[in-house]
Amino acid sequence: MKEFDAFRLDPVNRCLWRGDERVTLGPKAFDVLRYLVLHADRLVTHQEILEAVWPDTHVNPEVVKKYVLEIRKVLGDRSNRPTFIETFPRRGYQFVAPVREASTDTSSIEAARVVTMVGRDASHARLERCLDLSLKSQRQIIFVTGEPGVGKTTLVDAFLRRAAARASLRIARGQCVEGFGGKESYYPILEALGQLLRDTERNPVVPALVRYAPTWLVQFPSLVKADAREALHRETIGTTRERMVREICEALERIAVDDPVVLVLEDLHWVDVSTLDVVSALARRRAPAKIVLLCTYRPADVVVAENPLKVLKQDLLLHDLCVEIPLEHLRQSDVADYLSTEFPGADLPSGLAGLIHRHSGGNALFMTAIVRDMVDKGVVAEDGGRWTLTRRLANVAPEVPASLREMLDAQFTRLTASEQRILSHASVAGDRFSVWAVTSEPDLTSDEIENVCERLGEREQFLRSAGFHELPSGTVSAHYEFRHALYREAVYRRLSDVARSRLHRLVGGRLKALCSPGRQELAAEIALHFEKGLAYDDAITSLVLAAENAAARFAYRDSIQVLRHALTLVPHAAVEHRAELEAQLFERIGDAQYWLGEMVECARAYEAEAACGARSGLPSVRVNALSFLIRPFGLIDPDRGIAAVEEAVALSAGLGDPRLHARTELLAAGSRLLYDTWRGDDWQTCESARRTLEALSPAGVPDYHRMIYAHLQMLQGHYEEALTSLEAGIPTANEPTSLMVHMFALSGTTVALLHSGRFGELLRIIRAGREMAEKNGNDPWIFVFREAWLRCVVLDFDGARRLCETVTDTATTALARQPQTIARLARGYAELERGHYDEASRYFDEILDPAVTPKFFLHWYWRMSAQLGLSNVWLAAGSLGRARREADRFLASALSTAEPNLHALGWDVQARVSMAEKDWRGAEANIERGLAVLERFHIPTVAWRVHATRSELYRREKNHDAKEAQRVQAERVVVTLAGSFESDEPLRRSFLSADPVRRIVGSRPPGRSARERR
Ligand SMILES: Nc1ncnc2c1ncn2[C@@H]1O[C@H](COP(=O)(O)OP(=O)(O)OP(=O)(O)O)[C@@H](O)[C@H]1O
Ligand SMILES: [Mg+2]
Repeated sequence: MKEFDAFRLDPVNRCLWRGDERVTLGPKAFDVLRYLVLHADRLVTHQEILEAVWPDTHVNPEVVKKYVLEIRKVLGDRSNRPTFIETFPRRGYQFVAPVREASTDTSSIEAARVVTMVGRDASHARLERCLDLSLKSQRQIIFVTGEPGVGKTTLVDAFLRRAAARASLRIARGQCVEGFGGKESYYPILEALGQLLRDTERNPVVPALVRYAPTWLVQFPSLVKADAREALHRETIGTTRERMVREICEALERIAVDDPVVLVLEDLHWVDVSTLDVVSALARRRAPAKIVLLCTYRPADVVVAENPLKVLKQDLLLHDLCVEIPLEHLRQSDVADYLSTEFPGADLPSGLAGLIHRHSGGNALFMTAIVRDMVDKGVVAEDGGRWTLTRRLANVAPEVPASLREMLDAQFTRLTASEQRILSHASVAGDRFSVWAVTSEPDLTSDEIENVCERLGEREQFLRSAGFHELPSGTVSAHYEFRHALYREAVYRRLSDVARSRLHRLVGGRLKALCSPGRQELAAEIALHFEKGLAYDDAITSLVLAAENAAARFAYRDSIQVLRHALTLVPHAAVEHRAELEAQLFERIGDAQYWLGEMVECARAYEAEAACGARSGLPSVRVNALSFLIRPFGLIDPDRGIAAVEEAVALSAGLGDPRLHARTELLAAGSRLLYDTWRGDDWQTCESARRTLEALSPAGVPDYHRMIYAHLQMLQGHYEEALTSLEAGIPTANEPTSLMVHMFALSGTTVALLHSGRFGELLRIIRAGREMAEKNGNDPWIFVFREAWLRCVVLDFDGARRLCETVTDTATTALARQPQTIARLARGYAELERGHYDEASRYFDEILDPAVTPKFFLHWYWRMSAQLGLSNVWLAAGSLGRARREADRFLASALSTAEPNLHALGWDVQARVSMAEKDWRGAEANIERGLAVLERFHIPTVAWRVHATRSELYRREKNHDAKEAQRVQAERVVVTLAGSFESDEPLRRSFLSADPVRRIVGSRPPGRSARERR
């Protein structure tokens, strides 16, 4: 704590005190002052201030000047004869007053205005008890409830003031805003967190967010260095609500380890559901924590039975997880206390308190308003240093308005025309407003508005000053607030419908001007103004941005809710925009549902978009929407997805848009290849569509389509090329569309690594992916499938089966097809190893039967693997006729694809069947064709088998050298595959000890050195 003159600077709570009075100073102005005071011994340059106070943003140096002006005004300094801050023109400033170190203070608290509080002893005592418990690490959740103006905020303020004097606390406040409920997810929490972050010294908040709450850290981009942003975005991709909520709880618990945290959430009757999730989680977590969560709300505003706040509070009360402090009206004796505090030593008749109590009904706000009104009207006046009643008590009563509203109406009519006009305008802007926002009418200058507001504030009428604040544009503007929300309401209610909507439009337009593209933090507020201003097109556009904000906070359900609300406004939008707006909204709803994993809902939204395109004669909208359908349908019903994209192709052919047509063609042919079956024609279509796209625009193939194309490259054995294309699909920002690309990229990468025999890398991705999914509370299915696939390849069939069984329990039916299939394949091979041929063949038959195993992503690959399984079964069983039949079928279907692994396996099994048939020449011809595949493709997971078969054939032919040469080749591949695992990876050992592998590695001729073996 630093002291100078009569001032004290409290850097922890970021406030300035003159004696016992807290001086209003905006946060940036405070930071500038603090920096100057801390370096009081020297000149501080403009640049230095900019770097210290705005480390991550570019700010015009003029802004510093503006803040220094504000500081001077507050300190009562003059620039010509400065006692505090001296200006060195064009160089900088120096703090010239002597600075002392002050003892740590006890009276400072964040954001609590000093007001007289009477009564409330019992409630205050309860709060104190809660604080005591929280100091013993028992978390406290408190609801202070009562009617508007009864005194909830006042009680909380008084408590905070005293609490801060008792213990060293971190206090943060979040305000719920009317109308933000469904639109601004986590608004009050983010506001409170923003305050905690402002503490500059020994601030544990940033490290806690970095460590425990990256999903919250990303909400404050200025805290993250540019080079760390990308990694952070990757880390938070696919975040769920559960993760957001858990992380903020963990971070708060961490922050509260040394100094307790008091989190105040005001006016919860306007809360958003996401914030309620945090309240609920904070209340229900068991770990000891020095946290006080203090919430206020008006019960009358949450009377509906299913109101989520009401339900939550009742549940918490039932389980003894919260405390409710309902505030009653003030008593007559409290009013008397109030009078004697406000008018010390006054000579007032004893009946006055009774009269005021009767009229106000004990409502604190009304009581204080009556008293102020009496002073304004001279009913109570100071006479020779003593307050007295200037008329007989009996004559006072008729002058007291019957209700607060009536009183405020009367006060309003007494104001001048320009005061009324500016107040009306301000009442539209909000409880708290910037002068800048109100300056939307050409004949009102900001100076005029500021003067009027300042005057009203000085007279304690309607407004009070709320300091200077920086607007999102970097402009600094004076802020004011209504003395109480009910004051604003009183003014607002007087406006005619026409005037009200006109002003809302003006304010909306003004705020919109603040938001450059990419800075859309005001979107929800702007949407509110435009909606009330009946400017529906603008309202919908802003709601779309607000939905994006919600998605950036990983609050997809809120995002969907906002978009659905926007849909209800579409019928009011300009006729010519309606269809496009509606289509856009459905598309975004579809995207958000995809994020949530709600594929049926996702498909429904895209279908609605397609229908909208058809209805409104917007064929390209319909084409796009039909194309999107493959995303959800690919997971739940591939044939429907393919039908949709095929319709899109037919439609796009006649639109004269070659890019769109090429895109849809690539998508349709690609989807058939991935979800139906491999056809050379379809591959040719994809290839020529890709060329067209690259020729038509420098951007070339869109990301999603590029991922499909990469899969097709991979399916033809071009792993390196595929991996390069897939890399482009790992996104850097959390946009809804990129999740699909990201998932696709991950899925392709894992398969490409698997076929390239890069098992260690593959496992690293799988494990990181599973860990991330678990952190996010997501189903890690894709990683589980890939690990199961890997286990099949390294012959750990039991492991594969067990893994698949963990997902088939949880995965939805459509998603379960892939693990079910892998599990069947694994069981089939396990039974085969045990010599249970009938059982084994049953499992393989089930995979081949479309009634048991409907289509899924790359299902044909698995069906062919089952076909191969059948030939192996009959070969082992000695049923050569069956073995031959199945091997022929397998080869035919393998050769209908371009997949080199299947080709090689097809020739390999042919050779083995020929050998069993003692058709040595046939066997030779077949295996040579298998070896020829190895010449052209690097397919190690199959290569060792082909070499092993060739080696076996040489053995039968008694060509020992050639036999050994082939064995060594097989061994080399096996050793490289095993070596690609981490050295302590159990799978490595299990692979090396599998029978077929041991037959190769273990059948070395005796007497060779270890080096040779390698
Ligand atoms: N106990 C009290 N003693 C004296 N004045 C009080 C007391 N409680 C409230 N007041 C006065 O009444 C005004 C309104 O109170 P306050 O803002 O605390 O109400 P509230 O219950 O928070 O209302 P809302 O529901 O609108 O938020 C305060 O500004 C203060 O002037
Ligand atoms: Mg309040």
